[in-house]
Amino acid sequence: MKGIILAGGLGTRLHPLTKITNKHLLPIYDKPMIYYPLDTLVSAGITDILLVTGGNNAGDFLKLLGNGKEFGLRHLNYTYQEGEGGIAEALSLAEYFADGEPVVVILGDNIIEKNIKKAVQNFINQGEGAKILLKQVEDPWRFGVAELDGEKVTNIVEKPKDPKSNFVVTGIYMYDSSVFDFIKKLEPSARGELEITDVNNMFIKSGKMSWDMLDGWWTDAGTFESLYRANSLAAKKALNS
Ligand code: DAU
Repeated sequence: MKGIILAGGLGTRLHPLTKITNKHLLPIYDKPMIYYPLDTLVSAGITDILLVTGGNNAGDFLKLLGNGKEFGLRHLNYTYQEGEGGIAEALSLAEYFADGEPVVVILGDNIIEKNIKKAVQNFINQGEGAKILLKQVEDPWRFGVAELDGEKVTNIVEKPKDPKSNFVVTGIYMYDSSVFDFIKKLEPSARGELEITDVNNMFIKSGKMSWDMLDGWWTDAGTFESLYRANSLAAKKALNS
């Protein structure tokens, strides 16, 4: 399995914090945000990792992370997303890196309490298709919302006004190499982006999507409120360890 961290986009919801730096370089308690998804991948045993970034401060990631020595890595791969064409567009830039292998994708602003080892192993055992990780939240309208029928996920709706469940799709996705063919079929959404939710719905239609429940707390950090929450959760975890 290869790992991909998506840390592009302009983070406009966090202006003025992101006027002169990339969102994923902002602090979450005692570390830059990008450390958390990187640690999530490395602690799941994934060492072949690509970081997709963008904007004016892309070079700062290289200064900060280098070849990933602090994480026990020998090498770290980087690529650049021009503009803010969406999560699926950022992922499409990883096709060459993936080179036919399955991938674990994590959004650069997703922070978790525990680890994803078991989910990654489950996906390896699954052998093909895709897996998403779900979490129950109190504010589902902010996310991709999963509709479940027993053990099956039947549909995902991106930021619905009237969510049909409170199970949301976290920013951790596992795909076989067919993901890149699905992305090529996407049309931009109303917000002008290639949506990862559309990709996930394609896997659902093909009958090859599974889901696990994510263990421990989870948060994004793309709004002032969630950034604050991420800081307080990460601080509590660090201070209690
Ligand atoms: O956090 C989980 C949620 O992430 C999911 O539930 C949603 O289905 C999914 O669409 C996404 O929602 P957001 O609207 O919160 O995503 P956002 O635009 O904040 O982007 C999240 C990360 O994805 C961001 O930190 C970096 C990466 N990204 C995003 C865009 C738009 C890129 O690398 N390039 C991009 O063009």
